[in-house]
Amino acid sequence: MSQALERRLDQPIVGRLTVIGLGLIGGSFAKGLRAAGACREVVGFDLDAGSRQLAVELGVVDRCAESLAEACRGADVIQLAVPILAMERLLTELAQLDLGEAILTDVGSAKGNVVRKATEVFGAMPARFVPGHPIAGSEQSGVIAAKGSLFRRHKVILTPVPNTAPDALDRIDALWRALGADVEHMDVEHHDEVLAATSHLPHLLAFGLVDSLARRHENLEIFRYAAGGFRDFTRIAGSDPVMWHDIFLANREAVLRILDAFRHDLDGLRAAVDEGDGHQLLGVFTRARAAREHFSKILARRAYVDVMHSNDLIFLASPGGSLSGQIRVPGDKSISHRSIMLGSLAEGVTEVEGFLEGEDALATIQAFRDMGVVIEGPHQGRVTVHGVGLHGLQPPPGPLYLGNSGTSMRLLSGLLAAQPFDTTLTGDASLSKRPMNRVAKPLRAMGAVIETASEGRPPLVIRGGQRLSGMHYEMPMASAQVKSCLLLAGLYAAGETSVTEPAPTRDHTERMLRGFGYPVAVEGRTARVESGHTLTACHIEVPADISSAAFFLVAASIAEGSELVLQHVGINPTRTGVIDILKLMGADIQLENQREVGGEPVADLRVRSARLQGIDIPEDLVPLAIDEFPVLFVAAACAEGRTILRGAEELRVKESDRIQVMADGLQTLGVKAEPTADGIIIDGGPIGGGEVWAHGDHRIAMSFSVASLRASAPIRIHDCANVATSFPNFLALAKQAGIRVSEEGNS
Ligand code: S3P
Repeated sequence: MSQALERRLDQPIVGRLTVIGLGLIGGSFAKGLRAAGACREVVGFDLDAGSRQLAVELGVVDRCAESLAEACRGADVIQLAVPILAMERLLTELAQLDLGEAILTDVGSAKGNVVRKATEVFGAMPARFVPGHPIAGSEQSGVIAAKGSLFRRHKVILTPVPNTAPDALDRIDALWRALGADVEHMDVEHHDEVLAATSHLPHLLAFGLVDSLARRHENLEIFRYAAGGFRDFTRIAGSDPVMWHDIFLANREAVLRILDAFRHDLDGLRAAVDEGDGHQLLGVFTRARAAREHFSKILARRAYVDVMHSNDLIFLASPGGSLSGQIRVPGDKSISHRSIMLGSLAEGVTEVEGFLEGEDALATIQAFRDMGVVIEGPHQGRVTVHGVGLHGLQPPPGPLYLGNSGTSMRLLSGLLAAQPFDTTLTGDASLSKRPMNRVAKPLRAMGAVIETASEGRPPLVIRGGQRLSGMHYEMPMASAQVKSCLLLAGLYAAGETSVTEPAPTRDHTERMLRGFGYPVAVEGRTARVESGHTLTACHIEVPADISSAAFFLVAASIAEGSELVLQHVGINPTRTGVIDILKLMGADIQLENQREVGGEPVADLRVRSARLQGIDIPEDLVPLAIDEFPVLFVAAACAEGRTILRGAEELRVKESDRIQVMADGLQTLGVKAEPTADGIIIDGGPIGGGEVWAHGDHRIAMSFSVASLRASAPIRIHDCANVATSFPNFLALAKQAGIRVSEEGNS
């Protein structure tokens, strides 16, 4: 219905619409619906004769009635668009009239008072009264300013009560949608609370601040030097005083509640300033800034969704190209997560450099901020974590939302199981499908109390205040996340906690714990910790992520005439399976300038194009290349002969089912790829173009971008937004290096 303003509806939604109150809101409602052809007739009424006349002249309504009774006679829908305090009198008058089957609705900024008054004057809340509130306006007022597009892409909240007639609700919903509005339904009380916090309180503060400063003697001075901050903060003090006076009187209870809560927090800030408590101030400011950025992004995405009518971010990859130059891919995701977790639990201030500013690692930062840790940044890869010690975390205000990040959820569950407070861990649609019993079961064996949704899926509800006991755990699968989760729980569990893995997995947790001065014993495939030690803040330099470098290792290998250097890449031996596999396939990769940085080995990787051969991938390399298989499948598709992968069932429970999703996409591109229960069989050969789906999995999106280097036609890759979870500047770096991929519509 979003094109409604350009295209008249085939069938009107209602017969006669009556709008009482021909101001900006009522006038715009009438004008927009009339233009959209949503009503057979639009009748207006206003106490002011001038407004009535203008409304007809401007085409806002078909005609105006001379009295309220006349306006309501024969109406199918009556919109009450009068100022909020005038509404009470209007409702009293309406209760005297015979309204027949007409549906009543309104546009008041507070809903509790309207529902109370209607209940009083009608004897009960009429089933055909649908209270509503469009969140739209303009600094102009009156029917002269009425605009049919005023509500387009604005929220309209309808607050039906339990006895509201469903057909009446549907009809009002349809009218607002015909105006291009984004309609939501909410409880009356909830609406009033939300609006008190998001709209009414800020207006009160703006009016109050300007008045308070203006009444001071030196006011002229103050206003003369009032720069951007004052201007921005007080912009809304220019709003209509009468309207706002009405709103505060109408939404008194909810405003008082939020005002009291805010006054308490303001006192806290005053005390911090008084006592010179910079830590407290920094905590409030960094949290506020992060929250502001977070919802700016949400709002931006919303706008994007509205414009595009879908949330599908499409990459368009053009065929051909070769790679050259030197690039540095973003910081290691696994190490970035751990730097925040251990930095938060340490005593003192940890400085992190090279931090991955991707959404997964940002989710971990947000979780710790929610638990009271002051974290500055990230700013160009620098993060400062003000550690609170092993026992300094505070209860978060609500569920911890971890987005797409399995690592955040699994590692956090270990340390949260040992906290004195309850927590709930939630995630996006992909994370909500991923298995969590692999951590919940062993944690329960240590004494943790954890609830999951069905089949061990998120959300996880972790009950605090449990005493954990150390134990030995033989992991059934090779998973660094499970190992790390249990070692983190082990920092709090009585005695010793040890974990044996069936095959080596990434050991960043063990290395970093030692870097923070916490003893970890590693013998063969078993890692042990005991509780009772502390973590001491340190400096962490995060190397570039070999999992992100992998896309370019494959890209430069398969694109003829390429030579590329990837700088400062982490080459921890538990992560280099991708290099080993590519070398077995005949890739030309050299490790240059090898060195150790903060306990992790790094090197510059020089890669030149090579003729790749299909291989049987050795199973012992699988855990060491677990995240790199999607792009290795692309290498296999470009190799001569057959590549066989076995023992990799874990790939089916990553951000997507990576075996199936890659097989589907490769087949679409004309590659012979046969999925098996625990792997895939790929026969190298020509690659065509086509439409493939990343299923919200960052690594799938980037792998098919790489495939375009050898494709004979463009590849359109759907559902790529999550590339930002691990590689936010992928498109820019890909372009710089020579891969011809860009966001569709933005090349
Ligand atoms: C990770 C471990 C791996 C990997 C993930 C990050 C980690 O998962 O796939 O991207 O940081 O510990 P598993 O340990 O579940 O294999």
